[in-house]
Amino acid sequence: MTAPKKLFIKTYGCQMNVYDSERMSEALGEQGYVETKSADDADMILLNTCHIREKAAEKVYSELGRFKGLKTKKPDLKIGVAGCVAQAEGQEIMRRQPLVDLVVGPQSYHRLPEMEAKAGQGTKVLDTDFPEEDKFEKLKRRPKAKRGPSAFLTVQEGCDKFCAFCVVPYTRGAEVSRPVDRILRETQDLVERGVREITLLGQNVNAYHGEGLDGNDWTLAQLIWELDKVDGLERIRFTTSHPNDMQDDLIEAHGNCKKLMPYLHLPVQAGSDRILKRMNRSHTAESYLRVVERIRAARPDLLLSGDFIVGFPEETEEDFQATLDLVEEVRYGTAYSFKYSTRPGTPAAERAQVDPAEADDRLRRLQALLTKQQREIQDSMVGREVGVLFEKEGRLPGQMVGKSEYLHSVHVANSDHLEIGTLARVRIVSSVTNSLAGELISE
Ligand code: SAH
Ligand code: SF4
Ligand code: F3S
Repeated sequence: MTAPKKLFIKTYGCQMNVYDSERMSEALGEQGYVETKSADDADMILLNTCHIREKAAEKVYSELGRFKGLKTKKPDLKIGVAGCVAQAEGQEIMRRQPLVDLVVGPQSYHRLPEMEAKAGQGTKVLDTDFPEEDKFEKLKRRPKAKRGPSAFLTVQEGCDKFCAFCVVPYTRGAEVSRPVDRILRETQDLVERGVREITLLGQNVNAYHGEGLDGNDWTLAQLIWELDKVDGLERIRFTTSHPNDMQDDLIEAHGNCKKLMPYLHLPVQAGSDRILKRMNRSHTAESYLRVVERIRAARPDLLLSGDFIVGFPEETEEDFQATLDLVEEVRYGTAYSFKYSTRPGTPAAERAQVDPAEADDRLRRLQALLTKQQREIQDSMVGREVGVLFEKEGRLPGQMVGKSEYLHSVHVANSDHLEIGTLARVRIVSSVTNSLAGELISE
């Protein structure tokens, strides 16, 4: 028997890339590859890339440069680039970095096994089509190997919103939703392998409108209620949502569906209506705040998360103040904030840019406020009882680590008799920098 070939995958960007990397690894498993944790002993290296900001995209080229030595030592080594940089700059990658053998866009990864075979014969291959066929259907059922208790599952891909700063509609294509029966089948497969929590993924996951079990298009809430019936699945999450697609049935599900976790990532990007309009966000600060109000009425303890961009073209100090005001009003449990990055081909790239030093200063001020809020909300958990889904051993002997309903990391002492994947009641006893400490109440 020939020894298995080794595959090293490095993943950048969002959770969807994490999911895609898993599926690519499974697809290449059929070609006799097993995953390795080190690039040094790999027969194939795959970078699954992100194009969202300039830094993310540039990282790919510096990473590729580092593989030059490896390729000299092992001329048979295959190097592939997948993901959003592959989609946006496929030809450019091949030109700038001749050691790349294979470029595959996010909608073509079901073709990866064929591409690998061609690359094996010494042909360079590039596929950045948006093919008609469903890549998920073309991939085989997922293998039965045991896995961790928490998994991502892509249910919707692409975006039709065209925010003026964003590359996603170009790299991921138009909005497409997967049918409910396929999602159910994949969920059941995952649950049989030990998964107890699923995070449904989509660039605009709440715009989900896949074919339901009755042949009509279903909403995300309808999909969630169907998943709620799956025995052994304990927790459901979804990300990322758009404020304009927060429908009534989804808000109600946050109040009524026990398996749906009280956590919502709902990006607003900015607090100034003038900037929101320039961003083509098609909502106002006020309409966002009303959505937040309705969700909190349905689920008062919900932890809110958000994304922000500072220094968007033409943003003034007054506009920025409106962002700080909105943050003060919402109170975020966690948030991600970014300095605007010019992306070639997007409408905002043509406009007057904000002074970089000014943008840095705004980012610093916004992050200080968001960190303060995050800390306050985390500290307010002390004394409360939460459910923890254990994911791994902790750093200290006897300790296990898991996530609460609110996605806080919780360390629990004297819990190593519990299996990974156990869901236990825990009382929070203290709050440290990036996590909580708790003790077991019951198992
Ligand atoms: N689909 C999601 C998020 C996609 S990208 C949504 O609509 O919310 C994740 C985050 O990256 C965005 O929410 C935004 O805050 C940030 N982002 C996107 N393009 C950016 C750019 N050009 N510069 C800086 N941040 C950007
Ligand atoms: Fe990008 Fe806007 Fe689409 Fe989100 S909604 S992926 S920010 S274009
Ligand atoms: Fe990045 Fe593509 Fe995700 S650009 S954030 S990897 S959709």
